[in-house]
Amino acid sequence: MPSAVIGLDAGTTSIKGLLVSSDGRILKQASSPLALATPHPGWAEQDPGAWWDGLQQILRELSADSPIPIAALSISGQMHSLVMLDSKDRSIGPSILWCDQRTGLECIDLTRDYGGEDDVLAGFGNPILTGFTAPKLLWLKRHEREQFARMARLALPKDFLALRLTGRLAIEPSDASGTLLYRVLEGIWDRRILDYLGLAESALPDLVPSGSVIGPLVCPDIPSLRGIPVIAGGADNAAAAYGCGVEKPGDAMVSLGTSGTVVGITSSPVVDLTGAVHLFRHVTADGFYHMAVILSATNSLDWFRQRFTPGLSLSQIETLAESSSPGSHGLLFLPYLNGERTPHRDPDARGVIFGLSSFHSQGDMMRSIHEGVVFALREGAERIASLGTPLDRLRVVGGGSRSLLWRQMLADNLGKEIWTPRVDEGAAYGSARLAAEAVGLNTNGWVQLVNRTEPDERTANLYRDWYRLYQDLYQSLRDRFKDLSQILTRKG
Ligand code: XUL
Repeated sequence: MPSAVIGLDAGTTSIKGLLVSSDGRILKQASSPLALATPHPGWAEQDPGAWWDGLQQILRELSADSPIPIAALSISGQMHSLVMLDSKDRSIGPSILWCDQRTGLECIDLTRDYGGEDDVLAGFGNPILTGFTAPKLLWLKRHEREQFARMARLALPKDFLALRLTGRLAIEPSDASGTLLYRVLEGIWDRRILDYLGLAESALPDLVPSGSVIGPLVCPDIPSLRGIPVIAGGADNAAAAYGCGVEKPGDAMVSLGTSGTVVGITSSPVVDLTGAVHLFRHVTADGFYHMAVILSATNSLDWFRQRFTPGLSLSQIETLAESSSPGSHGLLFLPYLNGERTPHRDPDARGVIFGLSSFHSQGDMMRSIHEGVVFALREGAERIASLGTPLDRLRVVGGGSRSLLWRQMLADNLGKEIWTPRVDEGAAYGSARLAAEAVGLNTNGWVQLVNRTEPDERTANLYRDWYRLYQDLYQSLRDRFKDLSQILTRKG
């Protein structure tokens, strides 16, 4: 008897759901937009109750009149974002999100008190960064004492939602990896940091494998979904990678979304001692991946378009950018609009348009933004490769991957052919795949690669000098970014 599964993703801008047939076709999709609160500059919060409302609405939409039975569902979600739960599993306060930057001081203090960066990297496989979970806990302990004292347990977004669906709080390794409460290489919670934060292990979710059953669905009460298994999904990046077949060492993915990532599955899970590249567990058993994260990918283009050329469509922008040439006639764009993670780990870095002259056209400007994003991803890819992780079978996904110009620039700069998957529905599709496999469905045919883009050697050579200059620019400006930040802080 044919059946379908539901794949869900609790993202930052929306909750998204897919009803997928057992052969991988999307039968229906639904999404529910989410608001992001910024009560202070650099803060980012969401109401977990809004995720739950959105999720219930999506489940109703997807299950209504489904022509075939739904066998299972699974959820992926934004990484690192913290939900505090009271003794009755009600959320306390808003969730502090992965993109929130309030914990600069807590990161410094935690790193020092844990024994310094070397100990941190040895323990967690990653440095302590503002976006990750543990510094948020320290911040709450210091600034929201009453809330922190009421916290009985903690959850990440997708795990909070699965708790609402099943009554059981569980987390799987790919999301535990981004908490800084979990020793990524050993796959266990870290007692030392829990003691430091004053947390008992009972405050943490049960650790279960991705793809395992968390429990039967008990809520909301939708007859066609009642009792179906809720399957442990994955961190959004891991689930997105799995959804486009990035699962074996050598498989790799570039995601051109609001932020951009380079993910490479590795058979040598070494820690990047510079802390620039993350090491996380994948959704496959004992799988690991290295990941570079840039904070403003398509966001760079969206920002420019909205502020300066609001009348232009994306295809007009692409045509303009194509009218320029590699190197944008000497115009370079540093895409650090919101600081940068890989490779600089610098919350004070800011965007730069360098080399402007009266000769430059709109097309040069548009092209330099595309190129700046690709150069930033190239730096991340080179860091990953330097750890011995090959980026061979490269897929490009996300909104920006629809641009042929961006795909070609990536191929030229990474020096590799790149493919797009037939279904590019991100993490929700990866969750659906996990759900399908958990109930014994064969997903071999789900991932098909289309649209191969080959690197052009002549253009790649043209980029070489511009890329070197791009890299030097950050080094020249690093201290000036700090000065800028201090002056801005002084002026309030
Ligand atoms: C990864 C990260 C983001 C979020 C987005 O480290 O912070 O990619 O997972 O949801």
